[in-house]
Amino acid sequence: MQRRNFIELSAVTALFLMTGCGSSDSGSSTPAPTPTTPATLTLKTGDPLNIPTLLDPTADAITGVKSYNLTIQESSHSFYNEVKTQTYGINGSLLGPTLLLKDGDKVDITYQNNLKEDTTIHGHGMHLPASMDGGPHQKIVAGSSLKATYTVNQKACTNWYHPHLMGKTAEHVYKGLAGMIILEDSESQALALPKTYGVDDIPLVVQDRIFDDNGELSYNPTNRDIMRGYRGDIFIVNGQVNPIFDAKTGLLRLRLLNGSNAGVYDFSFSDGRGFSQIAGDNSFLSSPISLAKVRLSPGERAEIVVDLSGDSNSTIKLNVTETIDARSATILSINVGNTASAVQNLPSTLTGTLDVVDESLSAKTRLFTLEGTGGGNPILTINNKEMDIDRIDERVPVNQTEVWEVTNTMNATHNFHIHASHFRVLDRNGLASAVAENEKGYKDTVIIPPNEKVRILIKMTDYTDTTLPYMYHCHFLEHEDAGMMGQFTVE
Ligand code: C2O
Ligand code: CU
Ligand code: CU
Repeated sequence: MQRRNFIELSAVTALFLMTGCGSSDSGSSTPAPTPTTPATLTLKTGDPLNIPTLLDPTADAITGVKSYNLTIQESSHSFYNEVKTQTYGINGSLLGPTLLLKDGDKVDITYQNNLKEDTTIHGHGMHLPASMDGGPHQKIVAGSSLKATYTVNQKACTNWYHPHLMGKTAEHVYKGLAGMIILEDSESQALALPKTYGVDDIPLVVQDRIFDDNGELSYNPTNRDIMRGYRGDIFIVNGQVNPIFDAKTGLLRLRLLNGSNAGVYDFSFSDGRGFSQIAGDNSFLSSPISLAKVRLSPGERAEIVVDLSGDSNSTIKLNVTETIDARSATILSINVGNTASAVQNLPSTLTGTLDVVDESLSAKTRLFTLEGTGGGNPILTINNKEMDIDRIDERVPVNQTEVWEVTNTMNATHNFHIHASHFRVLDRNGLASAVAENEKGYKDTVIIPPNEKVRILIKMTDYTDTTLPYMYHCHFLEHEDAGMMGQFTVE
């Protein structure tokens, strides 16, 4: 046994402990917003799962630089059988293609903004110079283009890209702008994991939406919605409602991204089967963690592997429960055929190269307090300050290990996302044992339940720039847009 089973059990226990906190949200004591699903329209369901295109770069023969072109555009997308919905998309009608990048790759991404308004595209989880980060300072003006040029310098993981314009992030993501970035390194390439994109390695961008009576995406948060976060009653995956994926028997890897504005999702299978989480936001976990459900707050990722070896000729359903409004849905039906997939067994070790978590290396503790007041004019702050694009809040010395202590003073769930570098979760409310096993890899976004304090260990390793800042913020997009964001430089 026994060690392994013991570890698995404690991981499940830790996750259940975390789960308890979510229900004390102030949001759940008041009724959720009325569903606005149009009565006269029927959702398109049961289509084959849309797998976002793997974007093909052109490679320069001399420099080796791989060039990618992303065009941000107005479009329309079929959520309903009767009507098309106006959307924003990237190289398509909704969401964008997947970028597959390898550690060491030199890339040159051109973003062409064909919208009638400015936007930005940020690489969430990417370790980049501030000038290439795609945050609020790297505006892509309507009708023009912008390049991001960089060398990939980080571990294999699942990242994503999305707009980050001041005050407009929530609306731009809601209308359809987001896509996945899959990062590989020599470690991931050597592992015997399912890794054939679209066959046994599947990207799943999960979101929730509200549609108006005409089947249009309505983004009209009230002041109360801004405080609570804007959540809908229709769950979509890769832009579809309960599509079907045809799988083989054996192991199936799912890259789960919570791409919602403000939903906190628990993912599980309808028959309650266990699965293994192999990676979190920015790295593999040291070894697979067995779970029956995995919780992701907005912006977080989990790579999971489910064993379908005994399921030939049957259907397995992937379900999501949004934990604040307590809504559940099947988001994906997996039809298992009777041919065997390439990988039948999971490696017991995934990575041996994660930095050791050593708090004694910390030279400084920075305090961040998440606060807010509702009413007529919702104000959401960090350290009692609303985001100001002209103010640098923190100046962080390069190569200095620090503890960042983030306290949620509100009776509502938030999370905390930091650009530029990954971090490690040290403790929750002072308890190292309250950190779940699946939070122990490299992270860039961490959930903070009501009235909880999370301490993380972080080090900015390069890309100094005394003028151009990175962001830290709550990734509930209404909160971010309403001011719960700050700026730091690496110096
Ligand atoms: Cu996913 Cu600052 O963002
Ligand atoms: Cu980010
Ligand atoms: Cu928040």
